[in-house]
Amino acid sequence: MVYPIVVYGDPILRKRAQDIPRDFPDLPALIQDMFDTMYAAHGIGLAAPQIGKGIRLFVVDGTSLKEEGEEEDMTGFKKVFINPELVDEHGLAWSFEEGCLSIPNIRENVSRQENVRIHYFDENWNEQEEEYSGIKARIIQHEYDHLDGKLFIDYLSPLKKRMLKGKLTNISKGDVDTEYRISAPLKK
Ligand code: NI
Repeated sequence: MVYPIVVYGDPILRKRAQDIPRDFPDLPALIQDMFDTMYAAHGIGLAAPQIGKGIRLFVVDGTSLKEEGEEEDMTGFKKVFINPELVDEHGLAWSFEEGCLSIPNIRENVSRQENVRIHYFDENWNEQEEEYSGIKARIIQHEYDHLDGKLFIDYLSPLKKRMLKGKLTNISKGDVDTEYRISAPLKK
């Protein structure tokens, strides 16, 4: 099932998401829905709050980036992160243009550290701790932020934020062109 993507202005995007209990009902089906929703919107990452669910779950699939000439090896970078915790971020900060399915048609440079260490459970509830760098780390950092109620625009300068204000207001009213279904908080 493909969900509409919750867009900017919805309070769910600003809440800290809750840990998922082991007996959470129909988790495999929800994970499949997350992938279906992400693919339908041509995204490379999707966090549960973006489909209106305040739980600590995100999915990524960066394998399509390979075809776009990305230098990094994205093979196998299709993953499910349940109850993730960022253990550590280190390395030099670097700038990269980010976008977000919940903030359509806005892309801005965001500076983040190069490496992350993340502890999580995979889709089979196997405990994992892994280190990622570069684009993979970047995708994880962006999606992880969603679980803490953070958005990439929070990292922009006050001036840049002011410049985007009108666009963001339009997004929250649903006044934005997307190729995927959205749920806008202020849509009349
Ligand atoms: Ni996002």
